[in-house]
Amino acid sequence: MAATQETAAEVATATASVTPHTLAPTMLPRVPIPPRGVDYRGKLVLAPMVRSGELPSRLLALHYGADLVWGPETIDHSLIGAARRINPRTHMVEYTRQPSHSHSPAASDGGVAESVIYRIDPVREKAKLVFQLGTSDAARAVAAARFVAPDVAGIDVNAGCPKPFSVLGGMGAALLRTPEKLAGILEALVREITHEFGVGISVKIRLLETAAETEALVRRLVATGITGLTVHCRTTPMRPRERAIRGQLRMIADVCREAGVACVMNGDVENRDHAEGLIREFGVDGAMIATAAEKNPSCFRSGADGGMATWQEAVESYLRFAMEVENKIANTKFLLTQMIPGKAPEYKEIHKCRSYVDFMQALGHEGMKEMARETDRVLGLGEFEVKPEPKQKNKQKGQQKGRQQQGKQESNKRKREGSVDKEQSAKRVEVADPTPVAAPASIAV
Ligand SMILES: Cc1cc2nc3c(=O)[nH]c(=O)nc-3n(C[C@H](O)[C@H](O)[C@H](O)COP(=O)(O)O)c2cc1C
Repeated sequence: MAATQETAAEVATATASVTPHTLAPTMLPRVPIPPRGVDYRGKLVLAPMVRSGELPSRLLALHYGADLVWGPETIDHSLIGAARRINPRTHMVEYTRQPSHSHSPAASDGGVAESVIYRIDPVREKAKLVFQLGTSDAARAVAAARFVAPDVAGIDVNAGCPKPFSVLGGMGAALLRTPEKLAGILEALVREITHEFGVGISVKIRLLETAAETEALVRRLVATGITGLTVHCRTTPMRPRERAIRGQLRMIADVCREAGVACVMNGDVENRDHAEGLIREFGVDGAMIATAAEKNPSCFRSGADGGMATWQEAVESYLRFAMEVENKIANTKFLLTQMIPGKAPEYKEIHKCRSYVDFMQALGHEGMKEMARETDRVLGLGEFEVKPEPKQKNKQKGQQKGRQQQGKQESNKRKREGSVDKEQSAKRVEVADPTPVAAPASIAV
């Protein structure tokens, strides 16, 4: 605690890294940016998005000019016990786990194939990737952050997810109601991770009901030693389609500025030109885009640099990145259905595809067919799919039916509870044996 207060109180002049998007340089306090960290001032960034923020989407956002990218929220538990490897074909960093399910696909050596829970491009994402943690416990947060810190430029804590699994676990938006706990987590991360790995810690919050409540929360959080605070301009009960509220924004920006912490705004930011106007209007330091970038990441390109690309162009580039990094077919298909307009004839075709070659055929990208065939070969898709033996097939059918029934029950339950937000459940890897098998000793807790 003492160390973090000292850090927060350190004063630096705010002249060095002011970019054209920020306010005029003035003498202001500033929490120092750690050596391997990044300053969020003047940045337009890709929001954390479970499912929609996997590596190819982040690479596409960077390709179109995003200054930084947040990865999808990952729960601390799922990293504890994970292993890190470099994929020998793609050279990507991959965090993997042994799945506990008996029906998991077999590896080529006959063992159970590891599943990739997070993938990083160590070159194109270097000094650009912020890793978002879902956590409710300082010790676990530190253990998980220690595992990923060497590969990322910042660690962010999710204090805004309204989903029941998050809130019931004391994570996400629940942390807004337990500010001391949230501050304790941030202080522990600053003390342990910033000092050991030289990366900054940040937090993403939502608005509270009144400006006074939000102000008290923000004042507490900016005194923890964090370098950045993102505010999603909606309250926890608000639905994503309700317009973002901007009334508290200037106050939040002022409190952050007084403490030397960068303030990033989020909620209904459409594109770079829109973001620049909002940054000027509300005196914030940067802006974050989610939904608009999910549809078409060329929103990060300014009008002067060409503005929005057609969905066809964005999709073609997306597919190239997806194949380069061996992205899971289900995730690629999901993203394509976000990017291709529902009215386009291609949208229907995509639903029928089962391989990358199928995607190329559906979209008419003949030139990428060889690359698609090679990706299918590596991932065992399409013509390379190994069909299970008939006996196994029946057993799998039974298991599939069981899973479908379970899925149906869960989906009915969710319908009864009512959907709170489009924020998806963060990745959770169920581990049968809590003793990490391939985990580095440093992250065992
Ligand atoms: C598909 C999807 C997944 C999301 N996942 C996360 C997440 O992992 N962590 C998080 O803090 N917010 C998550 N969010 C919320 C966004 O980061 C963002 O705060 C919200 O969508 C508002 O921004 P927008 O108006 O630009 O969409 C998610 C949103 C979407 C649409």
